[in-house]
Amino acid sequence: MKQIIKVDISTRTVDLAKCKTDMLVAGCFSDSAVLDKTVKALDNKLGGGIRRLIKLGDFKGAPKTSTILYSNGRIAAQRVMLIGLGEQRKAELDTLRKAAATAANQAVNMKLKSVSLALHKALDGKFTAAAMGKALAEGAHFGSYRYDEFVTQGDNGRLGSLKVEVAEPESKQARALNQGVSNGAVIGRAQSLARTLANRPANVINPPALAKAAREMVRGSKGLTCTVFDEKQLKAKKMGGILAVGSGSQSAPRLIIVKYTPSSKPAKGMPTIALVGKAITFDSGGISIKPSADMDQMKLDKSGGIAVLATMKAVAELGLPLNVCGLIPSAENLPSGSSYRPGDIVTTFSGKTVEILNTDAEGRMILCDTLAYAVKQKCDTIIDIATLTGACMVALGNYKAGLMSNSDDLVAQLRKAADESGESVWHLPSGDEYAEEMKSKIADLRNTGGRWGGACTAAAFLRQFVGETTWAHLDIAGMDISQKATEYAACGSTGFGVRLLTTYLMNLVGKK
Ligand code: BES
Ligand code: MN
Ligand code: ZN
Repeated sequence: MKQIIKVDISTRTVDLAKCKTDMLVAGCFSDSAVLDKTVKALDNKLGGGIRRLIKLGDFKGAPKTSTILYSNGRIAAQRVMLIGLGEQRKAELDTLRKAAATAANQAVNMKLKSVSLALHKALDGKFTAAAMGKALAEGAHFGSYRYDEFVTQGDNGRLGSLKVEVAEPESKQARALNQGVSNGAVIGRAQSLARTLANRPANVINPPALAKAAREMVRGSKGLTCTVFDEKQLKAKKMGGILAVGSGSQSAPRLIIVKYTPSSKPAKGMPTIALVGKAITFDSGGISIKPSADMDQMKLDKSGGIAVLATMKAVAELGLPLNVCGLIPSAENLPSGSSYRPGDIVTTFSGKTVEILNTDAEGRMILCDTLAYAVKQKCDTIIDIATLTGACMVALGNYKAGLMSNSDDLVAQLRKAADESGESVWHLPSGDEYAEEMKSKIADLRNTGGRWGGACTAAAFLRQFVGETTWAHLDIAGMDISQKATEYAACGSTGFGVRLLTTYLMNLVGKK
């Protein structure tokens, strides 16, 4: 795959004043008049420029704000960027991540070659050096990301490469910081890969093409293998849900299986994890066709599956001592003479029959086969991730993914990973009252519920296919896309889920 901007991240023990870079980046809280001691020392060398800026009220440290000072040869850096971190007591790891992303985003816009981040100094002591390093590296990748592989006119910010350095004045912090930075860089790179694959349009990525991309990804990674079920194998295995959804398209469906086997044996009692991701390469709604407004965004309906794919790459690069299986059902949901129809009764892989009431509720049809397959493979814990329902977007907006589960422990683990990764989740119900709505009179289940609680009834439908296996469902509808460019992110795919899932898996094995 063409690397759009190559980001190279490292840690360096260096006196901030002596840090030679295009831009040195420091953080500033809105409510503390005093600068942290490293920035203060830097300001002394700058002749008090930072203090003057703050005193004049030109920079208040508010979130989403930043300002640039020129060093005029007083320090080794060409420029100093101050980033507002907001109120000190509210600062989280994601504050740092977003600040690093803002700096990297600006650096790309300004076509800089190098930036040095001293942001973590503002939060010293509040979080571990490893956690801060991870957040900074993830943020630097996130903010510098651009998608322009089909732009042929102009340079469109195409920069080639950006060198990002986490600058740490004290050597005793450096090791832990560096560990975090290198883990964060692995995750950041995986997330950028996810964004590029997801941003590619449906005429470029169809289910067979996604399978090919998975095979290519696996080729370069230690511990990963890839198996793909094509339409013949799907038929032989009786995966009726995946086949039904794919039946309207010229591009046949696939089930992509990416398996990670660690080089060292997992600790005793460590669960085998299945990650299941919805990869509808385009969701027109099928015969129950969607309105045309914003239908183009349905190329991102493969985001869950791609998040799983990229997470598998990160897991392999991190060498986590854990068995993880990525299962990615992929189909294109189109209307045609061969499409599945409302009223059809589909026999799924589990043997359960489903009455189709709306062909636009296709995600659950490909997921139900795959969840049942994961159970059959004896996976201990299953997490699925999918752009599943508009209802989840109505409920939570673009700020949090819906989280439904049959295990309070798994909910707690995913919430912790969400806090640490800045990919936020909100626990929603999926119990019996919701399952009741999914019963059909002429089949075992129906594929849509009533008018209300659509995110929960969808989850309750999926729940019927995992039996007693520990399971969680992440509904990421609305989280997959950033409609507008922000101060820290390009518009388009967000790669949501890569940081959350990888952080969850790292926590399982105690990797910092
Ligand atoms: N992929 C959509 C959900 C979606 C909508 C994701 C908007 C991102 C933005 C999903 O396949 C879908 O169409 N769901 C239907 C379900 C309904 C027919 C029960 C929906 O939410 O309207
Ligand atoms: Mn749909
Ligand atoms: Zn869909």
